[in-house]
Amino acid sequence: MVSLALDGITARYGRREILTEATTPPIAGGALTALVGANAAGKSTLFRRIAGQMRGHGSVRFTGATQDDLRYMPQDTAMSAALTVYETVILALKQGTGGWRLSAQELAAVDDVLSRFGIAHLAEQQLPELSGGQRQAVSIAQTLVARPKVILMDEPTSALDLYRQYEVLESLNAYARETGAVIVLALHDLNQVMRNCATTIALGEGRILACGPTPEALTPDLIRRLYGIESRVEQCSKGRPMMIVDGPSPRAV
Ligand SMILES: Nc1ncnc2c1ncn2[C@@H]1O[C@H](COP(=O)(O)OP(=O)(O)O)[C@@H](O)[C@H]1O
Ligand SMILES: [Mg+2]
Repeated sequence: MVSLALDGITARYGRREILTEATTPPIAGGALTALVGANAAGKSTLFRRIAGQMRGHGSVRFTGATQDDLRYMPQDTAMSAALTVYETVILALKQGTGGWRLSAQELAAVDDVLSRFGIAHLAEQQLPELSGGQRQAVSIAQTLVARPKVILMDEPTSALDLYRQYEVLESLNAYARETGAVIVLALHDLNQVMRNCATTIALGEGRILACGPTPEALTPDLIRRLYGIESRVEQCSKGRPMMIVDGPSPRAV
């Protein structure tokens, strides 16, 4: 089984400190993990630190994987190259391998990921011709095609319609179950988090304010602290927990 733990991760831009001390217990693979927090809390910055794209203190500990097994899908994926969807996914598969020959198995992996994420019919389209949601689906396919063991995705469903959001989260869940991979998703929809993510990591005030099983971590107290919002978690008529927003928290005076 793969796991990932953060030990005293810091990050700053110039003199501005964004993360003072991000520490988590080992986060187990095999199910989805959510990274939640307010705008500008430092979610994308934390991903950049874990992905090794930024320096700082502290360490990221992998079990059953190394830094090379990690794939990171950033929040804004600019795609201006005049390539087809098919070519882009092949590029992502062969990235860092030092060769361009494709085995039958690799071709099958490309076809599989295109159909899993509902973009097989777009294979021959050029990237600039795609809609925002279609581009996001291509980024997801690129991230998964080499079957990584550790995956970080920054707001992967932000441009997707309701059906595609459902489809992507189901596929990612299935992938985690099949492979034991650690998959951390920055998400804003807390009901989506409660429904799909076994573990929740909450980032605020430059640190990890909560990290654990989602039903225990994602409490009204935490939501007030993260967002300044009063909320309730109630059971829907099918017995699933749902978060209901009541409004802004009264300001402390
Ligand atoms: N490249 C950068 N240079 C300077 N400041 C940055 C940079 N990227 C992000 N920041 C700042 O760091 C803070 C955290 O940003 P970010 O990690 O993108 O937050 P989140 O993803 O949680 O919305 C914000 O205040 C943002 O303005
Ligand atoms: Mg961000």
